[in-house]
Amino acid sequence: MCGIIGILYRDKSVAKDLVTGLKLLEYRGYDSAGIATLSNGSILIEKDKGRIDELNVKLGFESMPGCVGIAHTRWATHGAPDKINAHPHTDCENRIAVVHNGIIDNYNEIKSELVRKGHIFKSLTDTEVVPHLIEEYIKNGYSFRDAVIEAVSRLEGAYALGIISTYEPGMIVGVKQLSPLVVGVSDEGMFIASDINSLSPFTKDVIVLDDGEVVFLTGDSYEIVRLPTRERVVKKVERIEIDTQFADKEGYVHYMLKEIFEQPVVLNYSIRVQEHYLNLMAELLDRSKEVFIIGAGTSYHAALLGSIILSRVARLTTIPVIASEFVSRYGDVVSVDSSVLAISQSGETIDVLKAIEFAKSRAATILGITNTLASTLTRVCRVYIHQHSLPEIGVAATKTFTGQLAVLYRLAMVTGKKRGKLSQREMDEMKVEIAKIPGVVKTVLDRVDQQVRALAKKYKDTRYFVFLGRGLSYPIALEGRLKMLEITYIPSLAYPAGESKHGPISLIEKGVPVVFVAPPDETRKLIIGNIEEMRARNATIITLGDEGDNELRELSDDFIPMPRVYPLFSPIPYVVPLQLFAYYTAVLLGRDPDKPRNLAKSVTVL
Ligand code: M6R
Repeated sequence: MCGIIGILYRDKSVAKDLVTGLKLLEYRGYDSAGIATLSNGSILIEKDKGRIDELNVKLGFESMPGCVGIAHTRWATHGAPDKINAHPHTDCENRIAVVHNGIIDNYNEIKSELVRKGHIFKSLTDTEVVPHLIEEYIKNGYSFRDAVIEAVSRLEGAYALGIISTYEPGMIVGVKQLSPLVVGVSDEGMFIASDINSLSPFTKDVIVLDDGEVVFLTGDSYEIVRLPTRERVVKKVERIEIDTQFADKEGYVHYMLKEIFEQPVVLNYSIRVQEHYLNLMAELLDRSKEVFIIGAGTSYHAALLGSIILSRVARLTTIPVIASEFVSRYGDVVSVDSSVLAISQSGETIDVLKAIEFAKSRAATILGITNTLASTLTRVCRVYIHQHSLPEIGVAATKTFTGQLAVLYRLAMVTGKKRGKLSQREMDEMKVEIAKIPGVVKTVLDRVDQQVRALAKKYKDTRYFVFLGRGLSYPIALEGRLKMLEITYIPSLAYPAGESKHGPISLIEKGVPVVFVAPPDETRKLIIGNIEEMRARNATIITLGDEGDNELRELSDDFIPMPRVYPLFSPIPYVVPLQLFAYYTAVLLGRDPDKPRNLAKSVTVL
């Protein structure tokens, strides 16, 4: 996690733009932040624990002088989130400053060696070995440039680094190994950053670095070398159009709320993803002996639902797997005949990338669904689909989850047609029905917002929640549970409703809120039985069900009436009240739903 940015301007100060970029990277971690600039031959550093806006006021980030600088927003791995461990980190003489995203696995060994040689370490971070190691090579007669190459050649693990130094005051060095790093080019200067969005206020012209590459930026040029050979690499500058609208909350109090309400619009984009790529992907899925669908967190819930949809609509058996479990669970059976469909909003989740790296090494076909153009995932896939949900800033995934589902529905339809499992009539009917979904979501938002707000008030002090669903609604129960616990910190469980009596029911006592996701599909009858079981134990029943379902309404303490929807597509509208429920509960409890504690949007450490 962590976000890094570096800017080198020919003739203007960088500090203000570093802060702008850093704020766009804040989703990657937000426990501390810092900036280093080069001015009059010295390195100036301001850093501390806290959010960027607070620190900007407290430390005067924006008024730091200098045309060259690097900045960092942190999600702590090594060392507590405090001032000492905040980045940038420096060498003994304060002549080299480094920002880092990732984990250096062999830092202990390097640190011991450097301590023996007399280096004084100030922090508990793995990062601090980097400036000291560069310093050591310089002491041994290497130029700054060669010292950087020697030093990074010794690092093991994942790292995107930004480095500045008084030895080469007109230069920023960027290094990429497993953690993302892009280079930006403009008439005014050069940039490095953890993602393209953070460069969008400054340039659209970028170069995406690959693992093992080191870039040396000067005012008007850049040079890329690849390790370990140190050969020079020539890479094309790509023009990437980024919608910068996302940076604004547009009157909403939080990004999460804005993103929930954006769903009717962006779902239209996801439903309309290009048929050509769906066809290509369907072809490859159809040819595979086995198909795995992987993801983490919310994206795993999409994978689980995708697996059900592909089975129902395309009669294709797929195995949904949590990305971090993939290798140990299925590593031995992955082969050239396998396909791995990776779902990742960011396209940078390391658990997903590691699983793919493994599958690739076994010659499997890699496919992807992502919301992030030019992300690592897009570069390793045989075919990927960009879901077009527009950038998501809130740490809790909302519109990107429903966008993932929309793409998976479309993929299942195309695959079903290709495999001869869907008639033209069925296909046409589904196309008509899926096109209605954005409108249904709009109706849900218009109708339930006030009611869900009131429910949040009623239930915010509960000790825990239970979410239950069957079939297509089980992944939705899981997603409702994840939203609730990650932003409110209220412990919550989710189970397939049929499984609840195999253990979880022992938690039920008077007043425990049990949320049932109960659309009018083939599971409804059995769900009624599950509701009765919970009522018999004095649970408080909250149900999402069809607006005309009076039986469900009567069995529930609180009933959220949902508009009539084609049953196959119910997961998209039915997750929306659960997103709102979590959001309003978090706000009432005084939590920041956009930046929940201990989390970051992009999880780039294993
Ligand atoms: O970028 P990804 O979709 O790969 O991210 C996966 C998870 O880290 C993410 O869904 C996480 O669980 C969110 N906080 C859920 O709201």
